[in-house]
Amino acid sequence: MNALTTGDLEGRTALFVGAGSTGGIGLATATAMAAAGARVAIADMASTNVMSLGAELPGEGHTAHTVDVTDRPSVDRLVAGAQGAIHALVNAAAILRTGAFLDADFDDWTQSFSVNTDGAFHVAQAVARHMVAEGQGGRIVLIASNAARIPRLNNAAYSSSKAAVIQLVRCMTLELGAHGITVNALCPSSTATTMLVDVQAKVDPSRLDGIVKGSIEQWRTGISLGRVAEPADQAAMCVFLASDGGRFVSPGALRRRCPDLLLLTRVRPGASPRSTRSASATRRPRAFRASPIRACSSASSPARWSIPRSSRRWRSTVPPLWASTLAPRPATRQ
Ligand SMILES: NC(=O)c1ccc[n+]([C@@H]2O[C@H](COP(=O)([O-])OP(=O)(O)OC[C@H]3O[C@@H](n4cnc5c(N)ncnc54)[C@H](O)[C@@H]3O)[C@@H](O)[C@H]2O)c1
Repeated sequence: MNALTTGDLEGRTALFVGAGSTGGIGLATATAMAAAGARVAIADMASTNVMSLGAELPGEGHTAHTVDVTDRPSVDRLVAGAQGAIHALVNAAAILRTGAFLDADFDDWTQSFSVNTDGAFHVAQAVARHMVAEGQGGRIVLIASNAARIPRLNNAAYSSSKAAVIQLVRCMTLELGAHGITVNALCPSSTATTMLVDVQAKVDPSRLDGIVKGSIEQWRTGISLGRVAEPADQAAMCVFLASDGGRFVSPGALRRRCPDLLLLTRVRPGASPRSTRSASATRRPRAFRASPIRACSSASSPARWSIPRSSRRWRSTVPPLWASTLAPRPATRQ
């Protein structure tokens, strides 16, 4: 039996949307995948410096693009520009609008859904159609949030928009598994980016301290590792999901509060609601419960689980995704 690699993306191509923020999760993920050997295309709003950030990615053959995920023609143009297969998509594009529910501005609600939910739909559908047409399977990761599962004060719009992304992922998985496409929602915990420090915590050290240590005023339980995550921590999970080792992780809502609460759910594509429920609720092997990774699987009947076809087709060498918009750089992998 051959061991599966978890960090080698040589010969693969990946698209990152929402990767134009310095210090953001999207750019960190694109950087990690480029360092793992993938050719990447990063995209973000024209108002960001995405075009210049592309030139800083390790390796060569990468491209940078502008896109507005709320504008479907803009998304379609981006995907139509791909030359050949897109093996992996990571959508990190999102906005965070905070505010008390009683005072909430409806515009904040609609904008949150427009970017976070509609945007995820546009990007995922456009790329999934491309993946199906190319016939090589693929990996789709939509970044949601742990706020999609845990209610947060002053976060009604954001939390609700992200909860919809998780359900979108679950539904997509059932339909795309037959095409060898895995779909996962990555639900980061608090991660040191502009969105957390500037927008969520309002650059207030006491708020950040409350996030880490826990705060009854903020209805937060704290983070057992004693720090917020770094963008690289989230990026590592995306690299894994795009690698051979991640080929059987689908569908899933990956909940990343901290490693000891990481939850991977595996459900056979096409599984009935009943078998899905029983796999996660009643058949969880006891040995997994104390494990850092609690795999909720039907381990007692592995033959019922199908293996995505993508893993067999994945190895073909693929040229640069988009016509290069960046000058080649020396191949200095980090
Ligand atoms: N930082 C955290 O603590 C945290 C926690 C949970 C989930 N997340 C999620 O992780 C992802 C990355 O967040 P981040 O913390 O790196 O924030 P960030 O603000 O650095 O990155 C978000 C990116 O989305 C882009 N974007 C916004 N609207 C867009 C649009 N209409 N079209 C295209 N791009 C658009 C922004 O320009 C930005 O580059 C987001 O989906 C966020 O919701 C972050």
